[in-house]
Amino acid sequence: MARGEDAGLIFMDEVYLRGFLSRSSLTAKRSEIRELLKVIARPEVISLAGGLPAPETFPVEGLADLLPSIVKREGAAAFQYGATEGDMGLREELAKLIALDGLDGIGPERIVITTASQQGLDLCGRVFITPGDTVVCGLPSYLGALGAFSACGARLSGVPLDGDGIRPDLIEERLVDLRRSGVRPKFLYVVPDFQNPAGVTLSLERRREILEIAGQFDLLVIEDSPYRQLRYHGEHIPSLKAFDREGRVISLLTFSKILFPGLRLGWIVAEPEIIDRIVVAKQPVDLCTSPFNQCLAREYLRTGALPGQIERTRKIYREKLEAILAALEKEIDRSWGVRWTRPEGGLFLWMQLPPGLDASKLLEKALERNVAFVIGSAFHCDEGGSNALRLNFSYPSVEQLRTGAARLAEAIGALLEEHPVPGDWEVAEGFVGAEELSDGRRNLEQLSLNLALTEVVA
Ligand SMILES: Cc1ncc(COP(=O)(O)O)c(C=O)c1O
Repeated sequence: MARGEDAGLIFMDEVYLRGFLSRSSLTAKRSEIRELLKVIARPEVISLAGGLPAPETFPVEGLADLLPSIVKREGAAAFQYGATEGDMGLREELAKLIALDGLDGIGPERIVITTASQQGLDLCGRVFITPGDTVVCGLPSYLGALGAFSACGARLSGVPLDGDGIRPDLIEERLVDLRRSGVRPKFLYVVPDFQNPAGVTLSLERRREILEIAGQFDLLVIEDSPYRQLRYHGEHIPSLKAFDREGRVISLLTFSKILFPGLRLGWIVAEPEIIDRIVVAKQPVDLCTSPFNQCLAREYLRTGALPGQIERTRKIYREKLEAILAALEKEIDRSWGVRWTRPEGGLFLWMQLPPGLDASKLLEKALERNVAFVIGSAFHCDEGGSNALRLNFSYPSVEQLRTGAARLAEAIGALLEEHPVPGDWEVAEGFVGAEELSDGRRNLEQLSLNLALTEVVA
């Protein structure tokens, strides 16, 4: 709408509005995923793009049974404002829950309830980042965290991942470089379990190494782990917080992927001094997280139904993960040199196309065939990721995953016909780690590192 005045009303247009906007609003990036979600809303499109949990995992009946009794017992209290740090009963239940995960001896004073983990990320940004501060994160990283930290004026310094998660040797190298230029990053951001977007898990050894490095360079570690309870294969690995002897780790957890995301309920585990700062930062943001939702979660935990609920959810996702992996293996020709990760849990896997193939061109071809994904560059704070893509397997049905994989393979085939794979990519099929590449293939090494590639599947 053009700017003008009509009977005293001012009509805003984009250019006029800019004069009112804050610097952070002017520089804020729109979420590519949200934008994409609008395009793929057509019912015929199979979306491997979003990250929605499967609605069939939501414990709707169990919650419906609880609601009347909560309303009756709690009465008006459930509908009143609550404490900013959260409901004491819920925090006590959460302390018991995390004790089962190796975090014993942590009382409610070291837990603050958040309006899910996204708010946890925002609050960490508000508490620790002064515009211009540096934050070290993965390449690739969760888009919502990059957005939250950038909104606080953070400079993001990305470090590549491989099949065992973010690489401590490269974190250390980066920290040395930054120190040389007089920069002291505030914190390292990691998603240790079944990372969004790459699907990889930080190995036990690397968790220890990262904490050592954090101590050596005096930085905090933000461990964001919404998928932690969603392991379908392999061994349980303790959280970074479980090794934290210096109080450096701030753990972000959430009900979004184990109950339902509309609950908007998460919690942060940290040292009491940090919790106190987070509470102070949260007050002006929302006063408190919905007390009614906290009541619901508290009572749900007290029923003891959560372990069964998580097990049921795991079973559903395990089947979906196996379906997409089997379909990709069946549909994607080995000679194409396409690779993808084989996650042990979570909701996503990461695919890398041969060098020179552009994931946004593939997306055009994929959308023509009614299948969607997110291009890898959306998850990179640098220029990387242009020949990678993220695939979600939690939301589509098993049948849709099979059809989606077939359509994606067809789209890749069509793109390869237009842009044949460079000859030396065939040689790089044996890629297992950067060190093993010869000098002549350094460019491939760089690409592979930047794109956080893990297993050679095809
Ligand atoms: C790594 C990561 N962190 C945080 C979030 C935010 O989750 P929520 O705010 O629903 O807890 C997500 C959502 O997908 C995520 O993948």
